[in-house]
Amino acid sequence: MRRRLAAGNWKMHGLSADLDEARALARDTATARCERLICPPATLLAPMAAALAGSGVLLGGQDCHHTASGAHTGDVSAAMLADAGASHVIVGHSERRSDHGETDDQVATKAAAAHAAGLVAIICLGETEAERDRGQTLAVVSGQLAGSLPDSASAVNTVIAYEPVWAIGTGRTPTEAQIAEVHAALRGALQRLLGGEGAGIRLLYGGSVKPGNAAAIFALPEVDGALVGGASLKAADFAAIVSALDSSG
Ligand code: PGA
Repeated sequence: MRRRLAAGNWKMHGLSADLDEARALARDTATARCERLICPPATLLAPMAAALAGSGVLLGGQDCHHTASGAHTGDVSAAMLADAGASHVIVGHSERRSDHGETDDQVATKAAAAHAAGLVAIICLGETEAERDRGQTLAVVSGQLAGSLPDSASAVNTVIAYEPVWAIGTGRTPTEAQIAEVHAALRGALQRLLGGEGAGIRLLYGGSVKPGNAAAIFALPEVDGALVGGASLKAADFAAIVSALDSSG
């Protein structure tokens, strides 16, 4: 049984004053059955952990270095995220892959570092619009999956987020059939790579998930939740998505 997960990715948004949104989200979703996760900027992890203590809302980082400590100015390690109150970390988000040139290999080493620090790694992958237009979507995401999964991956410590690059922050989403096709392919690939563990790994959809389209997306087979960017910044929107997820499963 895969527990459903609503994950919010605040990206480079959020100052101390925005902790109130997180508090409102915790309050408004207090009876949720699905897991709720917020990934704020690293600067807000510790204060958000204090603000949400006892609420059941989980916290995650948005990236980590592949080593535990060292001379890496500006980087944050998985152990540091855990120390600040995180239980999860996003790795391989398309913005990291494009802004910082991260490769599948690097994403796999980051996910392994997350596991070593006791964190759940949310490994992101997804095709560009050009790749979809060329009919390469399934080949691209299967390749990213195989290349980005470390040997340490299990159903407990790993979540996969399918996020088509062209759907992130654009208000555009794939059709329901396209999402279902990719999730089915990813499930098959996970089972080929990891056997029984692959059946237990949760598959999130991400890319312009909003209160208005969440229920239809969550009704699709093999969609175990969502990774939400823009709509996670407003408690009311994220709470509506959490509620859609709860009603769907
Ligand atoms: P979006 O972002 O919901 O704003 O499209 C999703 C993501 O990048 O995780």
